[in-house]
Amino acid sequence: YRTAAVIPAAGRGVRLGPGAPKALRALSGTPMLIHAVRAMAASRSVSLVVVVAPADGAPEVKNLLDEHALPERTDYLVVPGGDTRQESVGLGLAALPEDISAVLVHDAARPLVPVDTVDAVIEAVRDGAPAVVPALPLADTVKEVEPGAPGDPEPVLGTPVRARLRAVQTPQGFDRDTLVRAHESVAVDGDGATDDAGMVEQLGAPVVVVPGHEEAFKVTRPLDLVLAEAVLARRRA
Ligand code: CTP
Ligand code: MG
Repeated sequence: YRTAAVIPAAGRGVRLGPGAPKALRALSGTPMLIHAVRAMAASRSVSLVVVVAPADGAPEVKNLLDEHALPERTDYLVVPGGDTRQESVGLGLAALPEDISAVLVHDAARPLVPVDTVDAVIEAVRDGAPAVVPALPLADTVKEVEPGAPGDPEPVLGTPVRARLRAVQTPQGFDRDTLVRAHESVAVDGDGATDDAGMVEQLGAPVVVVPGHEEAFKVTRPLDLVLAEAVLARRRA
């Protein structure tokens, strides 16, 4: 039962502000992508890591993987990415060898996910769930609004019951055939799907949630870099 991790890392990181592509920016001196690759390879179940690099950055990413110490029991592949996350994941899936039966999809932008969370997702897939997402309850109440022009007040349409909501993280784990079918059947619409499990839901296949972890948060805005470096400093203390 071979498991691969596909790491979409081809985004620009617009919300983080100007600079290198987000996955290549340093976190306590090491590129965010390298942290994310190590987080996947830390699981003894992961035998292959496929990094989906910025479209013109595959050679640079290959060099980064060569330069940094990574577990030797794991294989590493680099493929160029696409214009949307959905397309980037699809390109990563297309590079998987035949003998992979389970796939994790993990954002390069979640560099600090603990290995116990990775293993819990893999275990749920091995126990027979076609799609597994780690997720946490929300701290904030959420409102659905009618989006307006930036800065304008927006009418509220409703308030879902917070206790029933979960904020989803990665790695998301899948039976390989289920995820490939989802990517083949869900067209890229606008910015594309932001979540692979959502595509599996559109197929009508069951998706389950397992407990996520606070340290699996996504580095999206500048303040997230401050938090990520604080987490790393605490781990090293
Ligand atoms: N991603 C990708 N290919 C794209 C867009 C995003 O592989 N065309 C990846 C990102 O590199 C990231 C993950 O998808 O690891 C989650 O996306 P997000 O946090 O939105 O990252 P960015 O798209 O880079 O950031 P932003 O939306 O702020 O530009
Ligand atoms: Mg994005």
